[in-house]
Amino acid sequence: MRDIRLDNITAVAASSLAGLPDARQRELMQQLLLHLHAYAKTVKLTHAEWRAALAFLHRTGDISSNTRSEFSLLSDVLGLSSLVDLMASTPDATPGSVLGPFHTVGSPWLGNPANLIAGNAGQPVVLRGRVLGAQGQPLVDASIDFWQNADNGLYWQIDPTQPSDNLRCQLKVDAQGNWEVDTIRARPYQIPTDGPVWHDVVAPAGRSAWRAAHVHLIVSAPGHRTLVTELFDAEDPYLDSDAVFGVREALIGRYQLQTDAAAAARLGLQGEQCLVMHTDIVLSPLPAEP
Ligand SMILES: [Fe+2]
Repeated sequence: MRDIRLDNITAVAASSLAGLPDARQRELMQQLLLHLHAYAKTVKLTHAEWRAALAFLHRTGDISSNTRSEFSLLSDVLGLSSLVDLMASTPDATPGSVLGPFHTVGSPWLGNPANLIAGNAGQPVVLRGRVLGAQGQPLVDASIDFWQNADNGLYWQIDPTQPSDNLRCQLKVDAQGNWEVDTIRARPYQIPTDGPVWHDVVAPAGRSAWRAAHVHLIVSAPGHRTLVTELFDAEDPYLDSDAVFGVREALIGRYQLQTDAAAAARLGLQGEQCLVMHTDIVLSPLPAEP
């Protein structure tokens, strides 16, 4: 094609990707191209605006590293991460929520109840519940990968004052599908405010940098969809303005003061009472093989 015009550029460019051998990759790339062209036409994108957008993406890449992905943050603050999570959720299961940047594979396996307190400052609490299938049956082969931040709001990967593996673990449910993590109450924390996503997108929009306090879980069981999700604290002040749109009503739990001498002792508390949040996690079955 030697006569590229405004009225044929989109179709010509899209057809240039027709040779991609994988059908799904072809669909992904051609639809991306079509939507990018439609966007540029809708907003009547100027040269200056196009250059500014490319410069923003350059800065987003420049500040990224092996331990920091500003592109993930961009996806989070635009709601794209949560959109993908919500599309992957099924109505009969616990909803998914953002993975975030602080999951590291290979957390230590602990017994159940798992105790993560290990000298951490903060308010000792119990997180417990069951892992269930869609019919309410306990999934006795389920396991949980758990991680959260410390009382200063930081995850161990970015805080040299914390030991490696602080406040993270893997555990298996018991024969009734029960799980328990004895830990400290998670704290709200801010998304990074030293990069282009904050300076160019979030701050100018007058939005909050705060993430509502949460713990992270990846819950898996044979024959079921693996769930990546978060649990939120009903008393947190940022539930309605979470910077990455991670909050779902079904993921908000409330700590209740309960009499449980054994749990209180595990938490190192005087007396027989402790704060407990109970959350049953429901996994949906994998679709049947065609
Ligand atoms: Fe987090």
